[in-house]
Amino acid sequence: MGLLKLFDHWFDFKCPELPDLGGHSANLLASLLTMAWLVEARDPYTGGHLWRVSMYARLLAERVGLNDADAARFSLGGFLHDLGKVSVPDAILRKTDALTPSEYAIIKTHPEMGVRMLAGHPLAGLVADAIRSHHERPDGHGYPDRLLETGIPRIAKVVGVCDAFDAMTSERPYRHGMAPAEACAIIRKLAGAQFSSEYSSQFVAMCEEGLFDCIVGYSDHGIPLQTCPRCGPTLTIRREQGAGARVYCHNCGAEFSLETAAGRVVVTPTGAMGNAEQLQIEVDSMLISRTVRALAEMLPMLDFHSSQSQFVGQTT
Ligand SMILES: [Fe+2]
Repeated sequence: MGLLKLFDHWFDFKCPELPDLGGHSANLLASLLTMAWLVEARDPYTGGHLWRVSMYARLLAERVGLNDADAARFSLGGFLHDLGKVSVPDAILRKTDALTPSEYAIIKTHPEMGVRMLAGHPLAGLVADAIRSHHERPDGHGYPDRLLETGIPRIAKVVGVCDAFDAMTSERPYRHGMAPAEACAIIRKLAGAQFSSEYSSQFVAMCEEGLFDCIVGYSDHGIPLQTCPRCGPTLTIRREQGAGARVYCHNCGAEFSLETAAGRVVVTPTGAMGNAEQLQIEVDSMLISRTVRALAEMLPMLDFHSSQSQFVGQTT
């Protein structure tokens, strides 16, 4: 098999649910976001994590004075950082007890796996550093390369602190999510060791100013996270869904009706269970379309309206 043949899948990839986004680069970007979204959907507890990390990363990048193109790239890195988790078995990904050393070693392969998955992709250069290095630590105890502060790319420092904050403030089957102030106290304490001092101090300041209030506990703009009252995981709700829409728990299969009460979205059990067709995971194609369009406006190095990708590289 010729080398180029290995990468044919990048150019043939089509998601039938996505509308025509108006260009080769836009469709390549949509294919990446779709893959990331599907990786996230494997874990019923992590709904909205990629959207939130992406939002935090963009706001933090803007806060520290980066230009639009870098802010968009950091945002994209937030969405794609855990792509390599597709290779981690569910039994390890969803384990609620402490991981054994050998299981932790498998988890630690996901950054390199993510980079390998993107090898040859025309847009890989935008986010490879975020994917490979988001678990590096300034004290050199991170992975996979045990980089020190000065060697960690900025995009990885930003995504790293945003990812950790979201993990701490999210519900897990074995613990409740922390309050943002509690997570910020931990980030402040670990600044310079686990987190970049510069970016973590800015992140904490932004959180204390309330700039993340419409992101923490949301899975999309204006969509507060809903959880299954029967078994706990996140219920995926699309912004376009209106009152009366049916949503399903992908863990226990229960069906819920979407309602609004006093301006807030609520879910009410119908007492029915979803069938195989209803329990299929559907890509939130409108969320991905909106994300691509927002990124396209900020990434002038990409030609989103021609038949050829015009990516010309970036700095870390
Ligand atoms: Fe990760």
